[in-house]
Amino acid sequence: MTALPDTMFAVVQTHEGYSGSATGPTLDSASDWLAEAELPVPTPGPGQVLIRLRAASVNPSDIHFIKGEYGQPRVKGSPAGFEGCGDVVATGDGAEALQGQRVAFVAAGSGAWAEYVVTQAQMCIPLRPDISDEDGAAQIVNPLTAMAMVDIARSEGEAFVVSAATSQLGKLMCSLGRDLGLKPIALVRRAETLDTLRDLGAAEVLVTTDPDVSTQFAVLSAQMKPRVFLDAVADQLSEQVFCAMPNGARWVCYGKLSADLPKLTQMGQLIFMSKRIEGFWLTRWMMDTPPADQMRVVAEVQARFADGRWKTDVSERLALRDVLPNLADALKKSDGKVIITP
Ligand SMILES: NC(=O)c1ccc[n+]([C@@H]2O[C@H](COP(=O)([O-])OP(=O)(O)OC[C@H]3O[C@@H](n4cnc5c(N)ncnc54)[C@H](OP(=O)(O)O)[C@@H]3O)[C@@H](O)[C@H]2O)c1
Repeated sequence: MTALPDTMFAVVQTHEGYSGSATGPTLDSASDWLAEAELPVPTPGPGQVLIRLRAASVNPSDIHFIKGEYGQPRVKGSPAGFEGCGDVVATGDGAEALQGQRVAFVAAGSGAWAEYVVTQAQMCIPLRPDISDEDGAAQIVNPLTAMAMVDIARSEGEAFVVSAATSQLGKLMCSLGRDLGLKPIALVRRAETLDTLRDLGAAEVLVTTDPDVSTQFAVLSAQMKPRVFLDAVADQLSEQVFCAMPNGARWVCYGKLSADLPKLTQMGQLIFMSKRIEGFWLTRWMMDTPPADQMRVVAEVQARFADGRWKTDVSERLALRDVLPNLADALKKSDGKVIITP
């Protein structure tokens, strides 16, 4: 076994707690929220593992988090980043079974944007050898959310609506929906992505920048009767979409890509049409779903990546040492994840 270094390079948070605002997952400059640091390599405690990073993905949740607008408080000086993949190089008591394995992980202890990461063994998934490091780095957050939310959609009928459908998660949900015989209705904001979404599995695609998109959606809704709206945008158009959906429709908000807040205009629909507005958070799903069911979902996710039904689109690769100067620009590119490597 190679000896571990005493210190590691990391990209750390420079703020503490919550910001109290909701400005969305965009950055003017990474240095507003992050700094470079040389930190001691962490030691895994009981039930924990130490992972040498191979690749980390940048998700909107990472950006919400460093800006203080996510579901857990920032810790100043601690590495940023929630998700990645790497090799388990040391284990605490009770986690020995993972020693030497290549795993996908969610960081729960120290962040993923560092050469080494400590996390709980339960937050690691050993990776099949036929899954690449880049797919491994985006193997948990979006794929498990896609499986869980399409399951919600399936419980309510054939058609369902997906906003920000060009996001990685949106694409996973459209193709999974098609594979399950469902009819995803995709909302995109760039007309040039229409064909891509159709090829991926969307039964219908609407462009949200069309002036009459609300009318187009109302016509589609009357024909297809979608009862679930999986929404990562949550702006006024989202509210109009929900209002145009039939009796019993569920507006499932799982992201806040838009900084605009919607105004509710049809409260009577909640009373007289049994419509519901709710949230979805993968963290809650993981706490509430029995481990055996989670393992089945994980196996299906890996199978989908291994045989090419799913893939991670990569828009840019950044070395850890290039995150501070280049992350903000890298995030401006559409169509894929920024992947960070040590
Ligand atoms: N609740 C949960 O448990 C959970 C779990 C996973 C992900 N999420 C959420 O799911 C969403 C998608 O995540 P992801 O990793 O798939 O994202 P992603 O691949 O980084 O893609 C985000 C895409 O959304 C589109 N977009 C950005 N701002 C928008 C806006 N204001 N209005 C409409 N579209 C906008 C952009 O595509 P175009 O440039 O092509 O329009 C952008 O590329 C995020 O909100 C994330 O926080 C939630």
